[in-house]
Amino acid sequence: MAVRVGVLGATGAVGQRLIQLLEPHPEFEIAALTASESSAGKTYRQAAKWRVDSPIPQEIAEMTVTATDPDEVPNDVDLIFSSLPSSVGAAVEPGFCEAGYVVSSNSSNGRMDDDIPLVIPEVNAEHLDLLEVQRDRRGWDGAMVKNPNCSTITFVPTLAALTDFGLEKVHVSTLQAVSGAGYDGVSSMEIIDNAIPYIGGEADKLETESRKLLGDFDGAELSHNSMDVAASCNRIPTIDGHLENVWVETEEELTADAAAEAMREYPSLDLRSSPDPLIHVFEEPDRPQPRMDRTLGGGMAIAAGGLQESPFGLQYNCLAHNTIRGAAGASVLNGELLLENGYI
Ligand SMILES: NC(=O)c1ccc[n+]([C@@H]2O[C@H](COP(=O)([O-])OP(=O)(O)OC[C@H]3O[C@@H](n4cnc5c(N)ncnc54)[C@H](OP(=O)(O)O)[C@@H]3O)[C@@H](O)[C@H]2O)c1
Repeated sequence: MAVRVGVLGATGAVGQRLIQLLEPHPEFEIAALTASESSAGKTYRQAAKWRVDSPIPQEIAEMTVTATDPDEVPNDVDLIFSSLPSSVGAAVEPGFCEAGYVVSSNSSNGRMDDDIPLVIPEVNAEHLDLLEVQRDRRGWDGAMVKNPNCSTITFVPTLAALTDFGLEKVHVSTLQAVSGAGYDGVSSMEIIDNAIPYIGGEADKLETESRKLLGDFDGAELSHNSMDVAASCNRIPTIDGHLENVWVETEEELTADAAAEAMREYPSLDLRSSPDPLIHVFEEPDRPQPRMDRTLGGGMAIAAGGLQESPFGLQYNCLAHNTIRGAAGASVLNGELLLENGYI
């Protein structure tokens, strides 16, 4: 029997990707769609400007969108996927947990709370057990797990492959696609023929979330990784796919060949949405590229290339699809992990 799921923020850029991934998913069945008051009461076809690259599923198109309120979601829904603006997520997600729902959220609110697991399943699945601490502390029957920011997800799996060398300092510079800002995020007049060397709040997310993801959980408390991380974030006129340039200084000597081998051998998981290989390492010096490589592994793979030694340690590039691996696919994978671990 498929698990009945609800999607909060179902009409948005990430919400549409969630529907695209969940509708054919054998373990999940979409039973509730929510959005803002202006969409509530409309059919999904009327409420959503469908923009993803496959037809809107017929049965989803006819469903009625409700307001984002636990009372509007049927009781037999066991798992909620949330892709709300963070201010809205902060206001409504705890209410879903208090009502007993397990929530896999993509919104940034609460990501750094010390009792909310921030999870990339292939990197730190064991952090999921922080949910026991969360339930004790918050006194709710539900649960809340978060996936990281789209640009954090792009480079952290490559760092995870290198942890045996002792991560000390990481510099990362991003080239981020416009879909990362949502449909109304960046105007065409701003971004065409341009690059914007600032994305508000983004660098801080890369610097803090990466240390939490690569931290240790001892069953009671999570300690963050002590590596130094400096990030610089740039918006460029690509549609999907965040490309990142990374420099890593390690305690142990790290050659480009050893790093490539560690990335190639880094394991994926036996979960439906975890691609094998997880990290695709290119030999060609001009890859990965967003348009050519963002759909590797169904949009769930991380692509890496340009590995070389430099005065600032190992240097390389990496890429991931920001609305699939970086957002909707990340939430779905966390949903699969919740199911696998008996939280649903
Ligand atoms: N885009 C990405 O690549 C990406 C990557 C990682 C994380 N994220 C995060 O994912 C979340 C969603 O991003 P997005 O790009 O999908 O945004 P979006 O396209 O602007 O969609 C926002 C969704 O939230 C709903 N909503 C807005 N205000 C609401 C309210 N007051 N009450 C209830 N629902 C409300 C909207 O419904 P209406 O249609 O009715 O307005 C829509 O369904 C954000 O937190 C974002 O930071 C996005």
